[in-house]
Amino acid sequence: MDVMTAVLTRRSTSVLREPAPNDEEFRYLLQGAATAPDHGRLRPWRWILVRGEQQEVLAGCLAADSPDTAPDHIRRSLRRAPLKAVLVFCPHTGHKVPEWEQLAAASAMAQSLILLLHARGYGSKWRTGRLCTSGTLAERLGLNGPERLLGALDVGTADSVQPAERRAPADVRGHLSVLD
Ligand SMILES: Cc1cc2nc3c(=O)[nH]c(=O)nc-3n(C[C@H](O)[C@H](O)[C@H](O)COP(=O)(O)O)c2cc1C
Repeated sequence: MDVMTAVLTRRSTSVLREPAPNDEEFRYLLQGAATAPDHGRLRPWRWILVRGEQQEVLAGCLAADSPDTAPDHIRRSLRRAPLKAVLVFCPHTGHKVPEWEQLAAASAMAQSLILLLHARGYGSKWRTGRLCTSGTLAERLGLNGPERLLGALDVGTADSVQPAERRAPADVRGHLSVLD
C-alpha cells in the first residue's frame, strides 16, 4: 500500500475483534513508528499493552474514579477491542527541547503507528476521556513523576470485510498560504 492510499483509507474503527497484533508484531511496528520526527531523539513516550483479563483491571480502575457511571458501562467500553495499547507521555522535564515539542513527537509516533497498523490490515481508534484522568489507573500502571496518560489505542481487526473507501482529499483552503 502506498503512503497516500494508507492515509486516505485509514478510519478510526469503534468495534474491533481478533486478531490483534501479538506483542512481537506490535514491537516490530513500533520500531518503525519510533523513527517519526523527534527533536533530540528523546522518545518521550512508552506503551503498555493490555489484553483479555487485564482489561477488566483497567475497567476496575476507571470505575473507581467514576462513581456516577455504571461499572458495566465502563466494562463494556473496554471490551471494544482485543488489544488496548495505553500510551504514556514521559516528558523530559527541564530539557532544552520544550515539553510541547515532546508531546508533538509522541503524537507523530502515534500517527505513524496507526498508519503502520492500518497498512498491515489492523484497525485502531485512539481513545482518551477517563483513560487520561484516572489517578487509580495511573497508579496501577506505575506512572512515575511527570508521566501522563495520553489515552489508549484500541487495536484489532474491523468487522467489515469491505476495505474502507478511499476518502476524498480534504479541503485545505484556509489552512495553507504562501508568503510573498
Ligand atoms: C488525541 C486523540 C484523542 C481521541 N479521543 C477519542 C475518544 O476519546 N473517543 C473517540 O470516540 N474518539 C477519539 N479520537 C478519535 C477521533 O474521534 C477520530 O479520529 C475522529 O472522529 C475522526 O475519525 P477518523 O479517525 O476516522 O478520521 C481521538 C483522536 C485523537 C487524535
